[in-house]
Formats: sequence, structure tokens, C-alpha cells
Amino acid sequence: MKIYQVKDYQEMSLKTAEIIAAQVILKPDSLLGLATGSTPLGAYQLLVKWCQEGLLDFSKVTTINLDEYQGLPETSDQSYVYFMRKHLFDHINIDRNRTFLPDGMEPDREKACRDYNELLKTLGKTDLQLLGLGHNGHIGFNEPGSYFEKETHCVKLSERTRSANRRFFSSEEEVPHYAFTMGIQNIMNAHHILLAVSGEAKAEMVKEAFFGPITPAVPASVLQLHDHFTLVADEAALSKCEKESLAMEE
Ligand code: GLP
Repeated sequence: MKIYQVKDYQEMSLKTAEIIAAQVILKPDSLLGLATGSTPLGAYQLLVKWCQEGLLDFSKVTTINLDEYQGLPETSDQSYVYFMRKHLFDHINIDRNRTFLPDGMEPDREKACRDYNELLKTLGKTDLQLLGLGHNGHIGFNEPGSYFEKETHCVKLSERTRSANRRFFSSEEEVPHYAFTMGIQNIMNAHHILLAVSGEAKAEMVKEAFFGPITPAVPASVLQLHDHFTLVADEAALSKCEKESLAMEE
């Protein structure tokens, strides 16, 4: 594990965007695994800016997202496909046909997962997988207790996750109960995994996930086993970690 200790959300966004940009510059036809949530927003804004300034070229890039709610159409401003278009795809020179998310509107859950999993296999190993960290340690929508061996599957969202994501919806009832997500096995298959995290609310979880035991009770803890895992975390997110353990991972 390589840790970049940064000052705040802004610096976390800059470092995250730089690592993604470096990937695209070094390998223009990269397969990028992307994430939603508030964590990557600042990084996406920088990527948009650099692309518009002509510093970055996404024309040969393919993207594959971690997850999608079940039952939200792509016109819903809460669906992840809408999020990705609004915050990234609509503003960069990417070929829309090479941007993939699970099909949230597929009524047959098994089919939706099977199709996405097959797609992942066809596309091959992800070059760089971006992740955020759920308050309960989830990655994608792999909730606590998820088997590490799982591939793409449908998840019943925990109440903790539903209430954490409630802020984006106008009422509690609107928050979906199910989502499709890449499984931990799919995530771990990437050549390089980059997890960005910011803020004190995640500090306890950062300590548990990256300096505690590896257990399905804390899905992100599995990342400790990956041979190319980078953590970009700000001071607040690292505030519960011991200085000595941090120094060893720098
Ligand atoms: C959601 C997403 C995750 C994301 C997490 C954290 O549940 N499925 O992929 O990492 O939220 O979100 P945030 O970055 O807003 O804290």
C-alpha cells in the first residue's frame, strides 16, 4: 500500500486527478474503473478542466463504473449514469459508446449482473480502478459481510448506506433498496487500485480498513492484499491512524 497524505479535500482531488491523468497520458487507451459519490467530484472537475485545456485526451479511453441503483432510469438525476454524464462524460472528449455502467433498468436482476460481468471479462483487466469508501467500509456497493470471491451481483442496500445516500434524494422513500455492483473479485482484478478519502467522518473507518484485520465485515480491508494499491487521504481522514503506521506505508 502506498499512501499519499494530503492536507484537505482540494489536495486529495488534485492528487487523485493527477494519478488518473498520468494513467491516461502513459496509456491513452486505458480502461478506467470509475466511481460516483461526493469524493471523486473534485477530481472529475480537474480532469474536465485539463481535457478542455487540451492537456488530456480521453478519445481512446474506455470506462467501466462500479455500480448503479436498480430501478432508476438514466433520466433520473439520482442514477449513477446521470451523475457520470453530468460530472464527467458530457464535458470530455470520450466516446460515449465506450462508457459502461450496469443497466439499472433491467428488471431481471440476474441477467443485469450476468451481462455486466461478461462485459467486464470481455474488456479485460482494468488499468486503474478508482474507489471511494463507504461509511461502513463498503467499496462499490459491496456491503459488510460480502464474500471477497463475489463478482457482479445485486445488493440489498443496508440501512446505513441508504441513510448515508439519503442526502441526494428528496425523500427517504425514494432511496432505492437494491443496487447492482461489481464484486470484490472484479475490483481486485484491476492492475492498480486508487482509493480517495476525505473528512473526519471516515477517519475511524480508514483506520479499521487499512490498519486493522482483513475481514469481510470491513470490505475495503481486502485492499491491503492488493499488490498495487494507492490510498490518497487527507489529514482529517487519517486523524485516527497512528503516525508510526502511516510512516511505514509512505
Ligand atoms: C456510494 C457508492 C460508493 C461510494 C460511497 C461513498 O454508496 N456506491 O461507490 O464510494 O457511496 O460516497 P461518498 O464519496 O459520497 O462518501
